[in-house]
Amino acid sequence: MYQFKMEVAMAIVAWACTAVGQNLPLARSHDPGHHSRGNYDMTDLQAKLSSSAKIYYPNTTEFEAASARWSLLDEPTVNVVVVPGTENDVAETVQFANQRDLPFLASTGAHGSLTSLGKMTQGIEIYMTQLNTVTVSGDGKTATIGGGAMAKAVVDELWNAGKQAVTGTCECVSILGPGLGGGHGWLQGHHGLVADQFVSMNVVLANGALTTINAKSDLWWAMKGAGHNFGIVTSLTTKVFDIQYSNWAIETITFSGDKVGAVYQAANDYLLKNGTQPVGLINWSYWLNNPGADPNNPVIIFYIIQEGVTTVDSAYTRPFHDIGPLSIQPASGTYTDLASWTGIANNQPPCQKAALANPRFPIYLQSYNVDAQTKAYNVFANAVRGTSALNNSIFMFEGYSMEGVQAIPSDSSAFAFRSENILAAPLINYLPAGSTLDSQVANLGNKLRDILRDGTGMDDFRAYVNYAYGDESLQELYGCESWRQDRLKALKAKYDPTGKFSFYAPIA
Ligand SMILES: Cc1cc2nc3c(=O)[nH]c(=O)nc-3n(C[C@H](O)[C@H](O)[C@H](O)COP(=O)(O)OP(=O)(O)OC[C@H]3O[C@@H](n4cnc5c(N)ncnc54)[C@H](O)[C@@H]3O)c2cc1C
Ligand SMILES: *[C@@H]1O[C@H](CO)[C@@H](O)[C@H](O)[C@H]1NC(C)=O
Ligand SMILES: *[C@@H]1O[C@H](CO)[C@@H](O)[C@H](O)[C@H]1NC(C)=O
Ligand SMILES: *[C@@H]1O[C@H](CO)[C@@H](O)[C@H](O)[C@H]1NC(C)=O
Ligand SMILES: *[C@@H]1O[C@H](CO)[C@@H](O)[C@H](O)[C@H]1NC(C)=O
Repeated sequence: MYQFKMEVAMAIVAWACTAVGQNLPLARSHDPGHHSRGNYDMTDLQAKLSSSAKIYYPNTTEFEAASARWSLLDEPTVNVVVVPGTENDVAETVQFANQRDLPFLASTGAHGSLTSLGKMTQGIEIYMTQLNTVTVSGDGKTATIGGGAMAKAVVDELWNAGKQAVTGTCECVSILGPGLGGGHGWLQGHHGLVADQFVSMNVVLANGALTTINAKSDLWWAMKGAGHNFGIVTSLTTKVFDIQYSNWAIETITFSGDKVGAVYQAANDYLLKNGTQPVGLINWSYWLNNPGADPNNPVIIFYIIQEGVTTVDSAYTRPFHDIGPLSIQPASGTYTDLASWTGIANNQPPCQKAALANPRFPIYLQSYNVDAQTKAYNVFANAVRGTSALNNSIFMFEGYSMEGVQAIPSDSSAFAFRSENILAAPLINYLPAGSTLDSQVANLGNKLRDILRDGTGMDDFRAYVNYAYGDESLQELYGCESWRQDRLKALKAKYDPTGKFSFYAPIA
């Protein structure tokens, strides 16, 4: 430890002596060779990395691909990309960054979109993509997966082994990105959140140490909901289950906007049933423009999804048919079809890096307030209809089954919002066009969130950290109980006192 501190101290002195002008992202040289890279010359690091590690410098196609992000709003600035080939490579990279006092950020699916990411104005991206293995344990109860594994790869590999796990629903997000913030997924009604499945993990801490932690560590609680603040997970051992139901069915029911009140009244009465939505039932809805279905206003697309059947039970769908939808589209298949049915498979729009800004303004709800839904619909429709610059936007209402989430004690994790039934969020998509449009969008998003908050009768709201915009308070993201805030702050002070992991919903 002493030796390590000495090295750090010496490196900082050395850096301080040569730093003048070197905070510039790139040297102003016509010869972009290593002499011009200053602190971002990775030659010394390269010597310590495994042979499969890669380093990408700007103005290469590899760098562009590895640093492209889903949302262009307040992106982190990256000067060099390191692609670790081993778990130890992550530790070496963090130690190297610490020696030169350079910021760093892990990246996996690059779908993180909090505006706090923009506070990284220079630094090293640690692109986790090569750490993507999935290995089911001998007893079939757990799997060990790389810290850079993506949801689809894990779902498919497990499926081939007759297994499944709680993962995010979207094919193009990682396991750890969602999981460290809690992680919502199709199977949470049975087993709880993605984070509730964690058994142990290897993690590189702020001091560059690679360590294994499990429920015995004081850090364990924080990794389940506030984990982005504490380390880079290089591998994870997580619970897996035998496939319980391979067949699933969906009904996609599309309504014109004038049905908004009736639709959410029915959702409350027949689906949420006072927050006791059946465990194998999921209902989502999106408001979005679909000129083929309605040229004048956003439509309401209501998905009712059920496991273990080939047709969704009419007890759930009939009340919606009775409202008079524009169209009804049933489908049946397997668990692995769910992402494409709901528009979030790898080849579908939300998975593309389309050079758009994509902020969300999330709020958890217990049930739908029909008046608030109607009011929000009208404000949303006015803002996004026709040729509005925001006409690609989506208002999302995600009604996962909550039984498995609520069966787990609330104080067991930094994820604080187990009592909530619905995750709602406007997702405002637009082509970046400067700060005036950015602030118009922020006003709109916050206004829509406020309408839903008013409908809850509460003065404050609860926001899912992984959907957060970036202006939410720590109470809104991590729970308002003072013991939660105190515990998070104490752990942050102990494990990351200088805030190296403070670009994503930072605690401090
Ligand atoms: C289309 C879409 C669908 C989504 N679906 C779901 C869903 O079904 N369920 C859900 O809960 N959320 C979902 N989300 C939200 C999702 O949780 C966040 O967008 C999350 O940030 C994505 O993680 P990522 O790895 O793709 O992004 P990244 O931007 O690569 O990572 C997000 C944050 O996690 C950190 N991070 C990444 N990997 C690691 C690691 N190995 N160790 C430590 N830190 C790490 C990064 O540094 C960054 O701060 C969805 C988002 C989108 C855009
Ligand atoms: C990278 O390219 C941009 C424009 O394409 C240029 O302005 C910049 O100087 C280049 N940087 C390096 C290091 O070559
Ligand atoms: C939809 O899901 C929510 C959240 O779980 C639930 O409250 C509601 O009853 C469900 N509605 C239907 C129609 O299943
Ligand atoms: C709904 O839940 C509340 C609080 O748990 C309870 O008081 C009420 O009786 C429930 N209503 C129905 C219809 O079950
Ligand atoms: C969105 O608006 C643009 C012009 O701003 C237009 O070209 C496009 O067709 C519109 N899209 C929809 C779905 O209406």
